[in-house]
Amino acid sequence: MKKYPVGLIGLAVMGQNLARNLASKGFPVMTYNRTTQTAEEFIKAYGHEGLDFCTTLKDFLASLERPRKIILMVKAGAPVDETLNALLPFLEKGDVLIDGGNSNYHDTIRRSQSMPKGIEFVGMGVSGGEEGALRGPSLMPGCNKEAWKVIRPLMQKIAAKDFSGKPCVTHVGPDGAGHYIKMVHNGIEYAVMQMMAEAYDMLKRMYRLPPQRISTIFADYNQGKLKSFLFEIAVPVLSRKDDLKSGYLIDSILDKAGQKGTGRWVALDALEHGAALPTLTEAVYARSLSSFKKERLLLASLYKRTIPKPPIPLNEFIIVLENALYAGMISCYAQGFELIRITAEDQKWKLNFAEIARIWEGGCIIRADLLNFLHEAFLIEKGKPVHLFTIPSIRHALNKDIPSLRAITSVAVQYGVPALAFGTALGYFESMTSAILPAQFIQGLRDFFGAHTYERIDRKGSFHTPWSNLNL
Ligand code: 6PG
Repeated sequence: MKKYPVGLIGLAVMGQNLARNLASKGFPVMTYNRTTQTAEEFIKAYGHEGLDFCTTLKDFLASLERPRKIILMVKAGAPVDETLNALLPFLEKGDVLIDGGNSNYHDTIRRSQSMPKGIEFVGMGVSGGEEGALRGPSLMPGCNKEAWKVIRPLMQKIAAKDFSGKPCVTHVGPDGAGHYIKMVHNGIEYAVMQMMAEAYDMLKRMYRLPPQRISTIFADYNQGKLKSFLFEIAVPVLSRKDDLKSGYLIDSILDKAGQKGTGRWVALDALEHGAALPTLTEAVYARSLSSFKKERLLLASLYKRTIPKPPIPLNEFIIVLENALYAGMISCYAQGFELIRITAEDQKWKLNFAEIARIWEGGCIIRADLLNFLHEAFLIEKGKPVHLFTIPSIRHALNKDIPSLRAITSVAVQYGVPALAFGTALGYFESMTSAILPAQFIQGLRDFFGAHTYERIDRKGSFHTPWSNLNL
């Protein structure tokens, strides 16, 4: 009986496309799906590419080369545990299980730690959507060195390529590190998209531009320093005509943003770690705000706003907006990498920031020229988890573009256009680059009403002042 180098469980679109990607790179895949009909249809359509399916897990496992490499592309949460429980009794020493779903990293740590001795578990972030899974995703595996050795040849073949042609995959770190990095990736994805949406909104509300014209502005941005997958796809999203009526499709799409949960996870994680993640968190809030459509409609009728004439000519505004987007995005990445640093310290993960930026250069949703810039910046620091703002090349870029971020944020405020992402990206920068913050005032208030004590800048120790006894 023919043995397969890799098995894949879960034939939803991501699973199907990853299986086809593997087969196209010379790794025939045996697949299994709980609903056999899906597997039958898939193999009928693509079996000739080097794919097959089994109707039972027993046959599936028997068809794989040893050590078995099994990729799970099932829904995150309970289905992963159910699949693992079904597989584990039949696995042997050296077999490797790879969870390629969007699993919560706490679950991945738990699963890694509860694996029977000799069975390897990999929590692998996979980014790039359906197309990426098929043509080459960015892969973020978290596991021990032994498992990495086994899966490395496979993953390096199917991953996208970075700017220098190397595969967008690296051994991120142990157990939950891969899924953690994927979660932060998604948080950044949320923040960048929110900032793009706010830029669109300003062009629409302040300059009254139609979608087609805004799409040409995004197309131009995609030729410059904002060049990225998200700006590239912004063009068709904005210029697509509606099939069902006249006008542009974007104007008919209900303005309620969905969310599957990874954005919320990253916000919660930042709160739990005491990390500052204002823009990524605000992007989650912005989606929540959008969901209150009924309430917004009512309130919009109660608070009429008239948007005054644009402050500067459009051609000038477009340039300032481009610079503001760039500075804002750097702020988002700084926040994301800081969160990673804090968690890595907590989990005792040794992570290489240059490598993380590098594997995001291609294949994933946030892939962009900016990632290559960040990769090179972190490379100068030998991949160490330094704050992005401290690196000279980043400092240079921010010194140039922060004035634009200030200008755009203030224009949005003056004109009554909500700009939560721009505002927080700027606020993060302003706070982190302030030697003194008004937290001293907060400490005073806390000590006044709750005797919470405060530290002083000129001597050690913890102090309390009987504030109300003082003669003012
Ligand atoms: C990716 C994407 C992918 C998915 C998001 C969408 O990297 O391929 O991030 O994982 O598109 O999870 O998340 P929301 O539904 O929450 O926007």
